Amino acid sequence: MIAIKRKIMEIAGALVYPTISLTPEITKEHFLGKWVLVTGASHGIGRALSEKLISAGANVFLIARSEEDLHHLSAKAKQMGSCAEYCAIDLRDREKLELLCQKLRETLPRLDYFFCNAGKSIHRKINDAQDRLHDYDRTMDLNYRSLVALSLAILPALKASKGHIIYSSSVSTLYPMAPGWSAYHSSKSAANTWCETANSEFAPLDICVQIAYLPLVHTAMSDVNEQYQHLPAYTPADAANILLKLAIRKNKSYKPWWAKLSAPIAHIFAPIIQLYYKRLP
Ligand SMILES: NC(=O)c1ccc[n+]([C@@H]2O[C@H](COP(=O)([O-])OP(=O)(O)OC[C@H]3O[C@@H](n4cnc5c(N)ncnc54)[C@H](OP(=O)(O)O)[C@@H]3O)[C@@H](O)[C@H]2O)c1
Repeated sequence: MIAIKRKIMEIAGALVYPTISLTPEITKEHFLGKWVLVTGASHGIGRALSEKLISAGANVFLIARSEEDLHHLSAKAKQMGSCAEYCAIDLRDREKLELLCQKLRETLPRLDYFFCNAGKSIHRKINDAQDRLHDYDRTMDLNYRSLVALSLAILPALKASKGHIIYSSSVSTLYPMAPGWSAYHSSKSAANTWCETANSEFAPLDICVQIAYLPLVHTAMSDVNEQYQHLPAYTPADAANILLKLAIRKNKSYKPWWAKLSAPIAHIFAPIIQLYYKRLP
Protein backbone atom coordinates (compact mmCIF):
# COMPACT_ATOMS: atom_id res chain seq x y z
CA MET A 1 0.00 0.00 0.00
CA ILE A 2 2.80 2.39 0.97
CA ALA A 3 4.66 1.49 -2.26
CA ILE A 4 1.53 2.30 -4.34
CA LYS A 5 1.08 5.62 -2.52
CA ARG A 6 4.72 6.48 -3.14
CA LYS A 7 4.39 5.58 -6.85
CA ILE A 8 1.27 7.78 -7.18
CA MET A 9 3.13 10.69 -5.53
CA GLU A 10 6.06 10.13 -7.90
CA ILE A 11 3.81 10.20 -11.00
CA ALA A 12 1.91 13.25 -9.72
CA GLY A 13 5.25 14.96 -8.97
CA ALA A 14 6.54 14.28 -12.48
CA LEU A 15 3.32 15.67 -13.99
CA VAL A 16 3.22 18.82 -11.89
CA TYR A 17 6.97 19.38 -12.05
CA PRO A 18 8.04 18.16 -15.51
CA THR A 19 11.76 18.13 -16.25
CA ILE A 20 13.20 21.48 -17.28
CA SER A 21 16.00 20.60 -19.64
CA LEU A 22 18.64 23.05 -20.74
CA THR A 23 22.03 21.84 -21.89
CA PRO A 24 25.24 23.58 -20.81
CA GLU A 25 25.99 24.05 -24.54
CA ILE A 26 22.81 26.07 -25.14
CA THR A 27 23.41 28.07 -21.96
CA LYS A 28 26.92 28.84 -23.17
CA GLU A 29 25.68 29.80 -26.64
CA HIS A 30 23.44 32.49 -25.12
CA PHE A 31 25.37 33.70 -22.10
CA LEU A 32 29.07 33.43 -22.99
CA GLY A 33 30.61 36.89 -22.59
CA LYS A 34 27.29 38.49 -21.57
CA TRP A 35 27.09 40.84 -18.56
CA VAL A 36 24.67 39.53 -15.97
CA LEU A 37 23.56 40.97 -12.62
CA VAL A 38 22.07 38.50 -10.11
CA THR A 39 20.54 39.35 -6.73
CA GLY A 40 20.17 36.60 -4.16
CA ALA A 41 23.21 34.94 -5.73
CA SER A 42 24.53 33.30 -2.54
CA HIS A 43 21.94 30.58 -1.88
CA GLY A 44 19.02 28.66 -3.31
CA ILE A 45 17.80 29.46 -6.81
CA GLY A 46 20.12 32.43 -7.29
CA ARG A 47 23.15 30.36 -6.34
CA ALA A 48 22.25 27.60 -8.83
CA LEU A 49 21.62 30.27 -11.47
CA SER A 50 24.96 31.99 -10.79
CA GLU A 51 26.83 28.68 -11.00
CA LYS A 52 25.24 27.90 -14.38
CA LEU A 53 26.03 31.40 -15.68
CA ILE A 54 29.63 31.15 -14.49
CA SER A 55 30.04 27.73 -16.14
CA ALA A 56 28.66 29.26 -19.35
CA GLY A 57 31.34 31.97 -19.30
CA ALA A 58 29.12 34.95 -18.41
CA ASN A 59 30.58 38.04 -16.74
CA VAL A 60 28.78 38.36 -13.44
CA PHE A 61 27.89 40.99 -10.85
CA LEU A 62 26.63 39.11 -7.79
CA ILE A 63 24.59 40.55 -4.93
CA ALA A 64 23.47 39.12 -1.56
CA ARG A 65 24.44 39.48 2.10
CA SER A 66 26.72 36.43 2.50
CA GLU A 67 30.11 37.79 1.48
CA GLU A 68 32.00 34.48 1.69
CA ASP A 69 29.65 32.78 -0.79
CA LEU A 70 29.83 35.70 -3.21
CA HIS A 71 33.63 35.79 -2.94
CA HIS A 72 33.81 32.04 -3.69
CA LEU A 73 31.52 32.36 -6.73
CA SER A 74 33.33 35.35 -8.17
CA ALA A 75 36.72 33.63 -7.70
CA LYS A 76 35.30 30.69 -9.68
CA ALA A 77 34.17 33.05 -12.46
CA LYS A 78 37.61 34.67 -12.61
CA GLN A 79 39.26 31.23 -12.80
CA MET A 80 37.07 30.61 -15.87
CA GLY A 81 38.50 33.77 -17.43
CA SER A 82 35.34 35.86 -16.95
CA CYS A 83 34.97 39.22 -15.24
CA ALA A 84 33.29 39.05 -11.84
CA GLU A 85 32.32 41.54 -9.19
CA TYR A 86 30.23 41.22 -6.10
CA CYS A 87 28.59 43.40 -3.50
CA ALA A 88 27.70 42.03 -0.07
CA ILE A 89 24.74 44.16 0.95
CA ASP A 90 21.45 43.97 2.77
CA LEU A 91 19.17 45.23 -0.01
CA ARG A 92 16.71 46.51 2.61
CA ASP A 93 19.28 49.06 3.79
CA ARG A 94 18.21 52.11 1.80
CA GLU A 95 21.42 54.12 2.25
CA LYS A 96 23.66 51.23 1.22
CA LEU A 97 21.36 50.40 -1.67
CA GLU A 98 21.62 53.99 -2.92
CA LEU A 99 25.43 53.75 -2.82
CA LEU A 100 25.28 50.49 -4.79
CA CYS A 101 22.94 52.11 -7.33
CA GLN A 102 25.38 55.02 -7.72
CA LYS A 103 28.23 52.56 -8.29
CA LEU A 104 26.23 50.64 -10.90
CA ARG A 105 25.29 53.90 -12.68
CA GLU A 106 28.93 54.96 -12.82
CA THR A 107 30.59 51.65 -13.62
CA LEU A 108 28.26 49.53 -15.76
CA PRO A 109 28.66 50.49 -19.43
CA ARG A 110 26.24 47.77 -20.55
CA LEU A 111 24.16 45.02 -19.01
CA ASP A 112 22.55 42.14 -20.86
CA TYR A 113 20.54 40.49 -18.07
CA PHE A 114 19.33 41.50 -14.61
CA PHE A 115 17.99 38.48 -12.69
CA CYS A 116 16.12 40.10 -9.80
CA ASN A 117 15.87 37.10 -7.55
CA ALA A 118 16.65 38.02 -3.92
CA GLY A 119 13.52 37.50 -1.89
CA LYS A 120 12.03 36.98 1.51
CA SER A 121 8.88 35.10 2.37
CA ILE A 122 6.82 35.54 5.54
CA HIS A 123 3.79 33.49 6.53
CA ARG A 124 1.83 35.18 9.30
CA LYS A 125 -1.81 36.19 9.69
CA ILE A 126 -2.53 39.92 9.88
CA ASN A 127 -4.06 39.59 13.35
CA ASP A 128 -0.79 38.04 14.56
CA ALA A 129 1.22 40.92 13.08
CA GLN A 130 -0.28 43.76 15.11
CA ASP A 131 3.16 44.67 16.51
CA ARG A 132 5.05 43.58 13.40
CA LEU A 133 4.78 46.39 10.83
CA HIS A 134 8.40 45.49 10.03
CA ASP A 135 7.17 42.26 8.36
CA TYR A 136 5.63 44.49 5.70
CA ASP A 137 8.64 46.85 5.49
CA ARG A 138 11.05 43.94 5.08
CA THR A 139 9.15 42.16 2.32
CA MET A 140 8.34 45.40 0.48
CA ASP A 141 11.92 46.68 0.70
CA LEU A 142 13.47 43.47 -0.55
CA ASN A 143 10.87 41.94 -2.90
CA TYR A 144 9.63 45.20 -4.46
CA ARG A 145 11.72 48.29 -3.67
CA SER A 146 15.12 46.77 -4.47
CA LEU A 147 13.78 45.63 -7.87
CA VAL A 148 12.72 49.19 -8.67
CA ALA A 149 15.83 50.90 -7.27
CA LEU A 150 18.26 48.61 -9.11
CA SER A 151 16.24 48.70 -12.35
CA LEU A 152 16.25 52.52 -12.38
CA ALA A 153 20.01 52.56 -11.78
CA ILE A 154 20.83 50.09 -14.56
CA LEU A 155 18.37 51.44 -17.13
CA PRO A 156 21.07 53.21 -19.23
CA ALA A 157 23.20 50.03 -19.20
CA LEU A 158 20.19 47.90 -20.21
CA LYS A 159 19.32 50.36 -22.99
CA ALA A 160 22.88 50.11 -24.33
CA SER A 161 22.59 46.35 -24.77
CA LYS A 162 18.81 45.93 -25.27
CA GLY A 163 18.84 43.87 -22.10
CA HIS A 164 16.40 41.90 -19.99
CA ILE A 165 15.01 42.16 -16.47
CA ILE A 166 13.87 38.76 -15.20
CA TYR A 167 11.94 38.80 -11.91
CA SER A 168 11.57 35.71 -9.67
CA SER A 169 7.91 35.90 -8.67
CA SER A 170 5.61 33.27 -7.23
CA VAL A 171 2.90 31.20 -8.92
CA SER A 172 0.70 31.78 -5.85
CA THR A 173 0.21 35.42 -6.91
CA LEU A 174 -1.80 34.15 -9.89
CA TYR A 175 -4.51 32.72 -7.59
CA PRO A 176 -7.06 34.29 -5.20
CA MET A 177 -5.03 35.54 -2.24
CA ALA A 178 -4.64 32.96 0.52
CA PRO A 179 -4.69 33.75 4.26
CA GLY A 180 -1.34 34.23 6.01
CA TRP A 181 0.57 35.53 3.02
CA SER A 182 -0.40 39.24 3.08
CA ALA A 183 3.19 40.52 3.46
CA TYR A 184 4.76 38.20 0.87
CA HIS A 185 1.97 38.35 -1.71
CA SER A 186 1.52 42.15 -1.45
CA SER A 187 5.22 42.69 -2.17
CA LYS A 188 5.38 40.11 -4.97
CA SER A 189 2.18 41.45 -6.56
CA ALA A 190 3.55 45.02 -6.41
CA ALA A 191 6.67 43.79 -8.19
CA ASN A 192 4.57 41.93 -10.81
CA THR A 193 2.62 45.13 -11.49
CA TRP A 194 5.82 47.15 -11.83
CA CYS A 195 7.32 44.57 -14.20
CA GLU A 196 4.21 44.44 -16.40
CA THR A 197 4.10 48.24 -16.62
CA ALA A 198 7.82 48.42 -17.35
CA ASN A 199 7.51 45.76 -20.03
CA SER A 200 5.07 47.94 -21.99
CA GLU A 201 6.95 51.19 -21.36
CA PHE A 202 10.35 49.71 -22.24
CA ALA A 203 9.21 48.01 -25.47
CA PRO A 204 10.34 50.97 -27.65
CA LEU A 205 13.74 50.74 -25.90
CA ASP A 206 14.00 47.03 -26.79
CA ILE A 207 14.29 46.15 -23.10
CA CYS A 208 12.37 43.02 -22.19
CA VAL A 209 10.89 42.69 -18.67
CA GLN A 210 9.93 39.13 -17.82
CA ILE A 211 8.24 37.47 -14.85
CA ALA A 212 8.88 33.89 -13.74
CA TYR A 213 5.86 32.72 -11.72
CA LEU A 214 7.84 29.99 -9.97
CA PRO A 215 6.10 27.05 -8.28
CA LEU A 216 7.47 25.34 -5.16
CA VAL A 217 11.25 24.94 -5.16
CA HIS A 218 13.06 23.16 -2.32
CA THR A 219 15.29 25.84 -0.79
CA ALA A 220 15.98 27.23 2.67
CA MET A 221 13.12 29.70 2.07
CA SER A 222 10.41 27.15 1.31
CA ASP A 223 11.66 24.39 3.59
CA VAL A 224 11.11 26.62 6.64
CA ASN A 225 7.51 25.52 6.20
CA GLU A 226 7.50 21.90 7.38
CA GLN A 227 4.55 20.80 5.23
CA TYR A 228 6.38 21.91 2.09
CA GLN A 229 9.44 19.76 2.86
CA HIS A 230 7.60 16.57 1.90
CA LEU A 231 5.82 17.88 -1.19
CA PRO A 232 7.12 17.32 -4.72
CA ALA A 233 8.95 20.43 -5.93
CA TYR A 234 11.64 21.65 -8.28
CA THR A 235 15.30 21.77 -7.27
CA PRO A 236 17.16 25.11 -7.35
CA ALA A 237 18.92 23.86 -10.51
CA ASP A 238 15.54 23.26 -12.22
CA ALA A 239 14.36 26.74 -11.20
CA ALA A 240 17.60 28.21 -12.55
CA ASN A 241 16.87 26.49 -15.88
CA ILE A 242 13.37 28.05 -15.87
CA LEU A 243 14.90 31.52 -15.45
CA LEU A 244 17.57 30.93 -18.10
CA LYS A 245 15.07 29.52 -20.61
CA LEU A 246 12.73 32.46 -20.02
CA ALA A 247 15.60 34.87 -20.73
CA ILE A 248 16.60 32.94 -23.87
CA ARG A 249 13.06 32.63 -25.28
CA LYS A 250 12.11 36.26 -24.57
CA ASN A 251 8.57 35.26 -23.50
CA LYS A 252 6.68 37.75 -21.33
CA SER A 253 6.44 35.25 -18.48
CA TYR A 254 6.90 31.69 -17.32
CA LYS A 255 3.89 29.98 -15.75
CA PRO A 256 3.68 26.24 -14.99
CA TRP A 257 1.28 24.50 -17.44
CA TRP A 258 -1.20 23.73 -14.64
CA ALA A 259 -1.27 27.35 -13.49
CA LYS A 260 -2.15 28.51 -17.02
CA LEU A 261 -5.17 26.16 -16.88
CA SER A 262 -6.28 26.48 -13.28
CA ALA A 263 -5.61 30.12 -12.29
CA PRO A 264 -8.41 31.62 -14.48
CA ILE A 265 -10.83 28.93 -13.20
CA ALA A 266 -9.80 29.65 -9.60
CA HIS A 267 -10.73 33.32 -10.13
CA ILE A 268 -14.18 32.33 -11.43
CA PHE A 269 -14.67 30.26 -8.26
CA ALA A 270 -13.04 32.90 -6.01
CA PRO A 271 -16.24 33.54 -3.96
CA ILE A 272 -16.40 29.81 -3.08
CA ILE A 273 -12.68 29.67 -2.35
CA GLN A 274 -13.01 32.74 -0.11
CA LEU A 275 -15.89 31.10 1.79
CA TYR A 276 -13.55 28.18 2.47
CA TYR A 277 -10.75 30.54 3.55
CA LYS A 278 -13.14 32.34 5.93
CA ARG A 279 -13.85 29.05 7.72
CA LEU A 280 -10.19 28.29 8.30
CA PRO A 281 -9.05 28.69 11.96
N1 LIG B 1 11.58 28.54 -3.08
C1 LIG B 1 10.38 28.65 -3.59
O1 LIG B 1 9.54 27.74 -3.45
C2 LIG B 1 10.01 29.87 -4.39
C3 LIG B 1 8.78 29.85 -5.06
C4 LIG B 1 8.39 30.97 -5.78
C5 LIG B 1 9.23 32.07 -5.85
N2 LIG B 1 10.42 32.07 -5.18
C6 LIG B 1 11.25 33.27 -5.26
O2 LIG B 1 12.53 32.92 -5.72
C7 LIG B 1 13.51 33.82 -5.18
C8 LIG B 1 14.65 33.04 -4.58
O3 LIG B 1 14.16 32.28 -3.50
P1 LIG B 1 14.92 31.02 -2.87
O4 LIG B 1 13.89 30.00 -2.62
O5 LIG B 1 16.13 30.70 -3.65
O6 LIG B 1 15.31 31.63 -1.44
P2 LIG B 1 16.60 31.43 -0.53
O7 LIG B 1 17.20 30.10 -0.71
O8 LIG B 1 16.19 31.87 0.83
O9 LIG B 1 17.61 32.52 -1.16
C9 LIG B 1 17.30 33.88 -1.07
C10 LIG B 1 18.45 34.68 -1.63
O10 LIG B 1 18.17 36.07 -1.44
C11 LIG B 1 19.22 36.65 -0.66
N3 LIG B 1 18.69 37.62 0.29
C12 LIG B 1 17.75 37.39 1.25
N4 LIG B 1 17.55 38.51 1.95
C13 LIG B 1 18.37 39.47 1.44
C14 LIG B 1 18.63 40.83 1.76
N5 LIG B 1 17.98 41.43 2.75
N6 LIG B 1 19.53 41.49 1.02
C15 LIG B 1 20.20 40.89 0.03
N7 LIG B 1 19.99 39.61 -0.34
C16 LIG B 1 19.09 38.91 0.37
C17 LIG B 1 19.85 35.47 0.10
O11 LIG B 1 21.22 35.70 0.38
P3 LIG B 1 21.82 36.18 1.77
O12 LIG B 1 21.12 35.43 2.85
O13 LIG B 1 23.27 35.84 1.61
O14 LIG B 1 21.56 37.64 1.80
C18 LIG B 1 19.76 34.36 -0.94
O15 LIG B 1 20.82 34.43 -1.83
C19 LIG B 1 12.77 34.70 -4.17
O16 LIG B 1 12.49 35.96 -4.75
C20 LIG B 1 11.48 33.93 -3.91
O17 LIG B 1 10.41 34.79 -3.55
C21 LIG B 1 10.83 30.99 -4.44
